[in-house]
Amino acid sequence: CRTDWKRTEHMIFHKIINWAALVLNLFVLYSSSHFIFLLLFPCTFSVSIMDVECIREGCQSETLRQLVGSVPEGRCLTVVFKGPRKSLDLLCQSQEEAQHWARGIRTLKERVENMTQKEKLDQYPQCCSFTIKVQTLLQMINVDLSDQYAHSLFQKCDRSADGRLDHGEIEVFCRELLRRPELDAVFIRYSANGCVLSTVDLRDFLKDQGEDASLIHAQSLILTYELNEWALRNQFMTPNGFTMYMLSKENCVFNPEHTRVYQDMNHPLAHYFISSSHNTYLTKDQVTGDSSTEPYIRALNRGCRCVELDCWDGDKGEPVIYHGHTLTSKVPFVEVIEIISEYAFKASPYPLILSLENHCSVEQQTVMAQHLRSILGDKLLTKPLHGVDSHSLPSPEELKWKILVKGKKEHVVEECSSSASDFSSSDEEASRTEGKPPSTKEDKKSSVSTLSPELSELVVYTRSVPFKSFEQAAKNPATEMSSFSESEALRHIKDSGIYFVRHNSHQLSRIYPSGQRLQSSNYNPQEMWNAGCQIAALNFQTPGEQMDLNQGRFLQNGQCGYILKPPFMCQHNTTFNPENVGGGPAHRPILLTVKVISAQQLPKPEWDKPSSIVDPQVWVEIHGVPIDNNKKKTHHVDNNGFNPRWDCTFNFTVHVPDVALVRFMVEDHDYTSSNDFLGQYTLPFTSLRTGYRHVRLLKLDGSSLSPASIFVHITVTPCQSSPYK
Ligand SMILES: *[C@@H]1O[C@H](CO)[C@@H](O)[C@H](O)[C@H]1NC(C)=O
Ligand SMILES: *[C@@H]1O[C@H](CO)[C@@H](O)[C@H](O)[C@H]1NC(C)=O
Ligand SMILES: *[C@@H]1O[C@H](CO)[C@@H](O)[C@H](O)[C@H]1NC(C)=O
Repeated sequence: CRTDWKRTEHMIFHKIINWAALVLNLFVLYSSSHFIFLLLFPCTFSVSIMDVECIREGCQSETLRQLVGSVPEGRCLTVVFKGPRKSLDLLCQSQEEAQHWARGIRTLKERVENMTQKEKLDQYPQCCSFTIKVQTLLQMINVDLSDQYAHSLFQKCDRSADGRLDHGEIEVFCRELLRRPELDAVFIRYSANGCVLSTVDLRDFLKDQGEDASLIHAQSLILTYELNEWALRNQFMTPNGFTMYMLSKENCVFNPEHTRVYQDMNHPLAHYFISSSHNTYLTKDQVTGDSSTEPYIRALNRGCRCVELDCWDGDKGEPVIYHGHTLTSKVPFVEVIEIISEYAFKASPYPLILSLENHCSVEQQTVMAQHLRSILGDKLLTKPLHGVDSHSLPSPEELKWKILVKGKKEHVVEECSSSASDFSSSDEEASRTEGKPPSTKEDKKSSVSTLSPELSELVVYTRSVPFKSFEQAAKNPATEMSSFSESEALRHIKDSGIYFVRHNSHQLSRIYPSGQRLQSSNYNPQEMWNAGCQIAALNFQTPGEQMDLNQGRFLQNGQCGYILKPPFMCQHNTTFNPENVGGGPAHRPILLTVKVISAQQLPKPEWDKPSSIVDPQVWVEIHGVPIDNNKKKTHHVDNNGFNPRWDCTFNFTVHVPDVALVRFMVEDHDYTSSNDFLGQYTLPFTSLRTGYRHVRLLKLDGSSLSPASIFVHITVTPCQSSPYK
C-alpha cells in the first residue's frame, strides 16, 4: 500500500473507473471466470473488485486488533472478501491514504454494481483497442472454433490484412461471435416486417411473455433499450435493442416485483421462514476451523436473520465464542457483539435473532448481559412490546430494527427447584453431544449451572425450552421455542407431519445440522421448510446445493431474510402433511414446461488447464415436497462454453408449487471423472416468470458469474387431470 494517492488520486481514480469499465467489458468477452482486476498497482497484488464483500476501516480484524497500540488505528484497513477467502489487512502510510483506499474501493464496488448492460455496450469499443492473438482470445472466451472457421472469420475481419486484429476489426470479430441466432429467431417470429419490432409487435411479444401487454410498456422498453437513433425516433426496436432488452435485469427469469419487500410483514414471527446460520463464528470445519467475527459480516450481509453464538468462559472474566471441546480458535464475545451491532441491519431492517448457546458461569453470563446492553443499546429488545399480548409473537414489522436474544429464561413465577430442573435437560446440549467428542462428567455438571438473572431478563420472545411432545408444546405460550437436530426433525416429519406443521404455525422451531457433520456439510433445508420449520440453521461457510437452496428461498421479498409461509402452514388447525399432500388445501398441481435453449459465456472450472474447453450440460431441478422432487438434464454439448445450444424441453408436474424451488445447474461433462460444477441459479417457483428469459448464473459461493447465463422458455399450466401418474 505504498502509492502516493494524494497527488495522483484524481488521475489514477479516473483510470481505475475506466479499468473497471474495461474489465466489465472484457467480462462480456472473456468468460474465463476469474478475471483478475489489478487494483493495487505498485504492489504485486491483484484482486477482483467483484470479490470484495466490504471494507472495514481501523483495526477491526483479528490480526489488526492484536496490533492495536503498536500502529495508529487510522492507518489500517481490512478488505473482506466474499466466500471463504482470508481477509486482506493493509497498513497505509497515512490516515488520509487509508481513507482514500477505503473510499476508492467502495466507490468502485458501487460503480461496478451500478453498470447496466447498456453502459457495458457503450464502453464496448474500449476493450477492442487491444491486439490479441486470435487463438488466445478464443481460448479465453471458452470456445473451440474449428481452425477453418476461425481462420475464415479472422480473414473476414482483418480488413487491413496485416495478420492482426485491432481497433474496429476485433469489434467486428467479437460481434460476429456474439451473434445469437436463437434470439434472432424469436425476433423474426414477432416482427411483422422482419426488420424491426413496432410497438404493436412488441406488445404481442409481451403478451405471450405473460407481462404487462400495453403499448405504453412497449414504448418505454424501446426508450430504455433501443440504441439506434433512427429507431428511437420512430418507436421501433431493432435486433440490437431487442438483445439488450432480453439480456437486461428486467427480463430476468426472477420476477422483478419480488426483489422488494412485497409480502405482508404483519403476521406473527412463526408465520415466516427465517434465513438462519449455524455456528456462525466458524470459518471452516467444526473441529479445527478458526473462529472469527468475519463470518458474521458475511452472513448478515447475505440477509441472515438468526446467527449463533456458542459462549464459554474466557480469561480475565471475558466470555469467548468458539466450538466447545474442539480445537477451533476463540474470539471474544464482546468483539462479536460489536460486529453484530454494526452490521445487524445493513441488509435488512427486520429483527435479528441471536441464538445463544450458553456454557458460561453465572458471573460471565452477567458480563454477556452487560455487553449486550451497553453495545447494542436501543437495538436490543429487553421487554415485551407495548400493547402486544406478551404470550403471542409479534410481527417482523413490529420488531423492525430490533435484536432478540434467544436462550433459556428463568420462570419468575415458579419455584427455584422446578425451574432448575427445567434448565438441566437443556435441549441443545443434550442433543449436541450427538457427534461431538463426548463431554466429561464435569462439563455436564458445569453446564447445569443456573442462569444469570441479568441474561435471563434479555430473553423476551424467544425462550428456548426442551421439546417433549407436540401435545405438551401446544400448552406452551408462542414465545417458547425448541431446537431439533436434523434427524429428530426428520423423524417428527415422518411420524407426525401434520402435528409438526401445526406446531410451527404458532411456535418457532430451529433445526441444526447433525453433530456428525464435522466437515460443516449441510442438510437439505427444503425438507424442514416443507414442515413449516422457520429456523433451518445452515453452515453458511459451506457452499453447495443446500446453500443454493437457502439463497434461492430467500431471494424474494427484498432478500430481507423473512419469507411468509403459505396460508396452509399458518393455520393452527391445518391438515397439510408434506409427506402426503393429496387433495389438501396446498394441492394445486401445475405443469411446468422448461425449454433449455442455449447458454452464453460459460466459465471454465477454475482449476482447469487454460487450454481446455468445457462440454456443458444443464440440469433443471425441482425441490419441494417429496413427490415434487425431480431433476432432468440435457445432453452435453462438446467443446463449447461460449454459446452452446440444446433446445431440450422438460415437463414437470409440481403438486405443491407454493413451497417448491426451481434450480438450474450447469456442469462440465466429463467422461473420465465426475462432472465439474460451472454455475447455478435457484429461485422460488412462485417467483418464476414465464416466456423467454435469461437465467443469470451464480458461482459456487453464491456471487455473480456475470455474464454467464442460460436462455430458457418457460410455461406454466394448471393440471386438469389427476395429479398422480
Ligand atoms: C450508483 O447508483 C446509486 C443509485 O442508483 C447512486 O446514488 C450512486 O451515486 C451510484 N454510484 C456510482 C459510483 O455511480
Ligand atoms: C380452522 O379453524 C378456523 C377457525 O379458526 C375455521 O374457520 C376453519 O374452518 C378450520 N379449518 C379446518 C380445516 O378445520
Ligand atoms: C409436455 O407436456 C405437454 C402437454 O401435456 C405435451 O404436449 C408434451 O409432449 C410434453 N413434452 C415432453 C417433452 O414430455
